[in-house]
Amino acid sequence: MENGTRFGRGFTLWFTGLSGAGKTTISEIVEHELRNRYRKIEVLDGDIVRTNLSKGLGFSKEDRDTNVLRIGFVADLLTRNGVGVIVSAISPFKEVRDEVRRNIGEDFVEIFVDAPLEVCAERDVKGLYEKAFSGEIPQFTGVSDPYEAPAAPELHIKTDEEEPNESAMRVIGHLEELGYLTPVGALNRA
Ligand code: ADX
Repeated sequence: MENGTRFGRGFTLWFTGLSGAGKTTISEIVEHELRNRYRKIEVLDGDIVRTNLSKGLGFSKEDRDTNVLRIGFVADLLTRNGVGVIVSAISPFKEVRDEVRRNIGEDFVEIFVDAPLEVCAERDVKGLYEKAFSGEIPQFTGVSDPYEAPAAPELHIKTDEEEPNESAMRVIGHLEELGYLTPVGALNRA
């Protein structure tokens, strides 16, 4: 599709990665920037979705897949209605991520937020890794449960190598390249 032709269309930015990799941090900067530049934005964050839409679900593969498919279902509805959707969920299993990709189609942008397990554990923002390593939290992604990295994400962000702002601007730049957003410079020239 030619650059510029997607202006005004909805999209789903799907941030996937380990807990503590930086999904929420980057997505919040992206959200802020998009709210200044785009009309309608919605955020679906795993931690929040699990307090309502996915309340009661645990962390077995089946429950995670259900959680991800529910998020994907809502993201699809919103995307089809011209909303810019920001999803932030570990979404560790490739098969369901790909199912969501198929449902949403070309407006799906997968962003692999990548940091080595040791870095995430070192950050331990929520204090969960300590509990995971001691066995207090079972089935913890990256420690005692699998994370299947995306094979061909639209963007691969290594958060131990670049600053959150830089990463967020790469996401925005990608949307500009695809034509969902008009580059700020172009707006100023108009
Ligand atoms: S997902 O696997 O179903 O995509 P989701 O992103 O919604 O996960 O929720 C992950 C959040 O739940 C983590 O950021 C963490 O705060 C919390 N959590 C609690 N138990 C676990 C666990 N066993 N594995 C991973 N995250 C957990």
